[in-house]
Amino acid sequence: MDDSWQQGDWDGLRERAVQVMQRAYAPYSRYKVGAAARADDGRVVVGCNVENAAYGVVLCAECGVVSQLHATGGGRLTHFVCVNSEGEIIMPCGRCRQLLFEHGGRDLLVWTVSGVRPMSEVLPDAFGPDDLAHVADTAAEGPQ
Ligand code: THU
Repeated sequence: MDDSWQQGDWDGLRERAVQVMQRAYAPYSRYKVGAAARADDGRVVVGCNVENAAYGVVLCAECGVVSQLHATGGGRLTHFVCVNSEGEIIMPCGRCRQLLFEHGGRDLLVWTVSGVRPMSEVLPDAFGPDDLAHVADTAAEGPQ
């Protein structure tokens, strides 16, 4: 875990989230979200929510972050923040906590409504890739 980050670094990341929030496509909920994350090579990746006339097809801002992570070279997420249209910190939804866990693991630092916390607290006892690897031989056989 990189704990050398200062509040100023977090503020810069939050500002990136605020900027991309303004690009959100949220004509149905009118609830714009922006998200920004630092990758382990230092680059910043961002995303905004993109809604759909078929409401359930919505892409959360976190989906954009993870897509940009891989589209720009891969790696792991180390720091994450997301905001609403007021620039206020919000919590990633349950589905997106799972998404973030996959790409940052237990040590991903998340700026939450109760301060900076690791994913191990934001999504305790998370199911993840290790669970699949634990029974990899069985899983590889496919459904019985
Ligand atoms: N939303 C996100 O983008 N991320 C979250 O973690 C919470 C919810 C979006 C989805 C939808 O477009 C809007 O916020 C209202 O739920």
